[in-house]
Amino acid sequence: MKINTLIVGAEQLLTFDEYAGRVPLHGHKMRDIGLVEKGAVAISGNDIVAYGETHELLSVLEIDGETRIIDAKGKIVTPGLVDSHTHPVFTGTREAEFAMRIEGKSYMEIAAAGGGILNTAKRTRETTREQMAHNADRYLEWMLGFGVTSAEAKSGYGLDLETELAMLQAIRYLAQTGKLDLVPTFLGAHEIPAEFRPDRADEFVDVVCEEMIPKVAELELAKFCDVFCEEGVFDIDQTRKICIRAKEFGMGIKLHADEIQPMGGTELGVELGATSVDHMIEVSPRGIEMIAGSNTVATLLPGTSLFLNKGKFAPARDLIDAGAIVALATDFNPGSSPTANLPLIMSLACVAMRMTPEEVWSATTINAAFAVGLGEKIGSISAGKQADVVIWDVPDYRQVPYFYGINLVDTVIKNGRIAHRK
Ligand code: NIG
Ligand code: FE
Repeated sequence: MKINTLIVGAEQLLTFDEYAGRVPLHGHKMRDIGLVEKGAVAISGNDIVAYGETHELLSVLEIDGETRIIDAKGKIVTPGLVDSHTHPVFTGTREAEFAMRIEGKSYMEIAAAGGGILNTAKRTRETTREQMAHNADRYLEWMLGFGVTSAEAKSGYGLDLETELAMLQAIRYLAQTGKLDLVPTFLGAHEIPAEFRPDRADEFVDVVCEEMIPKVAELELAKFCDVFCEEGVFDIDQTRKICIRAKEFGMGIKLHADEIQPMGGTELGVELGATSVDHMIEVSPRGIEMIAGSNTVATLLPGTSLFLNKGKFAPARDLIDAGAIVALATDFNPGSSPTANLPLIMSLACVAMRMTPEEVWSATTINAAFAVGLGEKIGSISAGKQADVVIWDVPDYRQVPYFYGINLVDTVIKNGRIAHRK
């Protein structure tokens, strides 16, 4: 077999390969980072073919003059990060609302006054598919620069059939460019659109179920369906109805749940067999117990707690100690979390939620891969997985969350090719 690229001499190689990278890590298993010192990774074509200690790998592999050797002395090597919850397609920014919140208005007050998601939806509806893709490409470039090689990407700023389809088509186009692997999620039920207010939310739910979901499925534009289950947005019954419909059309389920008020969205997600339940700041003890006993990933988004200054974070410790599969993501969006810096989210999770450095690495690699349904393909350094690998300019993996806010990415290898260099 021809080895195209060989990374050698990494001070630490984090593999997450203990279970051949084929299962997500529950609870305290999240500390199993699969550490190899003086590590090496061999890549052939698009795939990882082997890893091990450098001297051992060098003694068994056949390397010729055409093999690119990358020296990772003084550095660490990890799987590419997976940002499993993002909203990268939107038009306009919302720094005016940011300033209003600093003056004391709450996120929900601003939303009720026509700001928030509706503000972005109004502008996104006026945007062509091509322009949507062009705008989002800039944000994907930011992600790549922070070591993210795959991301989930949601629609949800259209809130009508035409714009929701255009957003998903923009995501499909961006996925085809190959910069990042993108997993498309239909989030038509992100907010009740202006034309269905003040009291026709149920009619909008019918539109989502009878017009949007069938069309999105027919065009094969989304792998998942997501709903913003929240007081004043979609209640438990409306959320259940939309999810059941999406499942009939073969989509997986993700939920924005228990973010602002405890609504029982986590319990509903587990009951529906959701792939992930996201946010969970206000999750109930029963919700923690249920998700811990399931294969639904608990995706925590501490950037949102920080940026909305909620003074409260999701109970990561309780979730992990109870045995849940926890992932971390940026929630990149123009309102509640405009950051593409996933390593910063790792720092925040350590400091504000007391996750250990080992746990935050699992939560942004192997567990995040399972949160987007790609656990068989990405998220670990395992033979046969796609060669998405990041070299970081630090000698110890704990320094990535420790040097918070600093971009320590040295080299990003995407699908076996160098996609980004410091
Ligand atoms: O995940 N919670 C709802 N949706 C986004 C915010 C979207 C926006 O404000 O534009 C979130 O936080
Ligand atoms: Fe979100």
